[in-house]
Amino acid sequence: MLKNVGKLNNGLRGEIVIPADKSISHRAVMFSSIAEGKCKIENFSSGADCHSTLNIFKQLGVDIQFIDEKTLLINSDGHLTPSDLPLDAGNSGTTTRLVSGILAGQNFNSTIIGDESLSKRPMKRIIEPLSLMGAKIDSTNGCVPLTIYGSKLHGIDYKSKLASAQVKSCILLAGLNADGVTNYSEPYISRNHTELMLDFLGADIVCKEKTVTIHPSKLIAKDIAVVGDISSAAFFIIAGLIVPNSDFTIKNVGINPTRSGIIDIVKRMNGEIYINNTRNVSGEDCADIRVCYSNSLKGCVIEGEDIPRLIDELPVIAILASQAEGETIVKNAEDLRYKESDRIKCLVNELTKIGINIKETPDGFIIRGKSKIKGNAELESYHDHRLAMSFYIAGLIAEKEIAINGFEWTKISFPEFENLVNKLI
Ligand code: S3P
Repeated sequence: MLKNVGKLNNGLRGEIVIPADKSISHRAVMFSSIAEGKCKIENFSSGADCHSTLNIFKQLGVDIQFIDEKTLLINSDGHLTPSDLPLDAGNSGTTTRLVSGILAGQNFNSTIIGDESLSKRPMKRIIEPLSLMGAKIDSTNGCVPLTIYGSKLHGIDYKSKLASAQVKSCILLAGLNADGVTNYSEPYISRNHTELMLDFLGADIVCKEKTVTIHPSKLIAKDIAVVGDISSAAFFIIAGLIVPNSDFTIKNVGINPTRSGIIDIVKRMNGEIYINNTRNVSGEDCADIRVCYSNSLKGCVIEGEDIPRLIDELPVIAILASQAEGETIVKNAEDLRYKESDRIKCLVNELTKIGINIKETPDGFIIRGKSKIKGNAELESYHDHRLAMSFYIAGLIAEKEIAINGFEWTKISFPEFENLVNKLI
């Protein structure tokens, strides 16, 4: 589907409530399915990725019912049953990697399949540590389809070279079912939703700096309310900063410090942003964010421990950087090449078409700011939801219209995206 976006004549104003966090929604269904007891999950994501997770656990025999569009009841005795059919993770890396950690220690075999994009994403990063724990997994050149032969697992001490929450979560979930303690450390702290939720559900888990220790544990079901997704809010934060005369509030945004790098970068770049009404919901911090048009943005360097705290926001941060004075340099973000698309290459290809001065580097990109976004071009989303939404935000300040090919991919994480933009116009 081709979507045309043109320059706004007025600023964005008013108030929106940001829909549920994708990472937390996935975990809520997974962990409640392997916990004992009944629970209610409120504000579950309507994105296609989280529905892939939900369907997999239904297929694995868990009783999951919707009581309305966003509220689920899950009733489990903590055990899963085998599925005759392959488990379809769709487009979702989070589903594949976390579910693999759960399936590796079962007493049955399973196969995980996925769509074209997922079938190109690297799975060796989980196969290697899971194999060290005793798991048996066949892959297709290190990618899905994965066949996971349920095995007895043992604990490991694992030092990961990657700061990846998906890899970390996979190993922690396998550790729940192992016969000894598992220690997992990472070079920088990646999002810690798994650690927080496992702790909330009674697991024996301890976090100390960059190391997490988990003992084999049973989980006890508890009601979970999912906070709003800061990665979805990011598109609005950037829109507010770059569309003249904007001033609005984004309510119920998760601001877990391992995810809120975007807020720090906006401040570093001199953007006007206010964090109000901070509270804690089911173990996660959340707040209402007010953002205002900012005409003295300046470039900055984004690197090292910043990266895992804003990895999914880098495409839309590129749009912000294009409107800032001076250079913005993104380094140490090579893993961006292994997301739903090669986000470094694809961003550089497409943003160049609309007049943004962006240069590809092996592990990131460099943007020279204050470019006029010319528009008058068709941009390819490469079936990548976050690229499609980032291009849309660029379109709001483009001199001529931008056409985005594959805009329907926004349904992967944020089907409500365009309706919420329209609410602020
Ligand atoms: C996620 C972790 C990140 C992120 C992805 C969601 C998660 O991936 O990019 O969108 O829910 O754990 P990596 O762990 O591969 O960095």
